[in-house]
Amino acid sequence: MSELKDIKLPMHVAIIMDGNGRWARQRNLPRVEGHLVGMESVRDIVTATRSFSIPYLTLYAFSKENWTRPKEEVKRLLEILDIYLEQELPLMMEKDIRFNIIGDLNDFPERIQEKLKDVMKKTGKNKELCLNIALSYSGRKEILHAARGIAEDYKNGRIKKIDERVFSRYLWTKGIPDPDLLIRTSGELRISNFLLWQIAYTEIYVTDILWPDFRKEAYLEALREYSRRDRRFGRVKEA
Ligand code: IPE
Ligand code: IPE
Ligand code: MG
Repeated sequence: MSELKDIKLPMHVAIIMDGNGRWARQRNLPRVEGHLVGMESVRDIVTATRSFSIPYLTLYAFSKENWTRPKEEVKRLLEILDIYLEQELPLMMEKDIRFNIIGDLNDFPERIQEKLKDVMKKTGKNKELCLNIALSYSGRKEILHAARGIAEDYKNGRIKKIDERVFSRYLWTKGIPDPDLLIRTSGELRISNFLLWQIAYTEIYVTDILWPDFRKEAYLEALREYSRRDRRFGRVKEA
């Protein structure tokens, strides 16, 4: 693809999709309108990722802390998730996209849980793109969950040593390589409890563009910037 000529692509892109509320406020619209247009950005970015042959995409859609938002907003977000699952399943099948959830599925109403599991099952054998959606996600909770699993398995003798590789296997991202690029939209310079373990050496890219406006062109700009980065992993810079 000519727009990607000479670009070194990441294997795994993670995105903190932020700024839906501000997008709506700028237009005097209710926040939910920002979330609805944000869903279109999700489709655009998923489609673009697939067309660029990037094999892993992780989208932060709802944090554990987001449950503290007003009841009405949470309700609308759940409705949007429901619509998304209905609408996007055919596209995922057509484009060979595997849908995966990271986060506490149990926090969701039973009906949504069933639907999420159903989409994961139906797309489970798809190979081209692994689409991870972080839902009711907390990086600290994920690390605690892993620590508990490890303690249990160490006690009963199923594991003999605890190192980084072993630890990673107990995370919700088991089997998924760490993100190469983390994008955050809407300009906030923080991680907000996202993928704390996994981003140890991830390149961070922050743009002021609000999520509902973040489309293919803005994504390409992030990928171009990533391609210019010099990743050193603690080594001395090569001459
Ligand atoms: C991101 O947009 C979507 C979610 C966190 C669910 P926000 O709703 O956080 O939008 P801002 O940050 O208030 O603009
Ligand atoms: C981070 O955005 C979570 C998601 C994008 C789902 P927030 O809007 O919740 O983060 P803070 O509150 O600004 O840190
Ligand atoms: Mg926000």
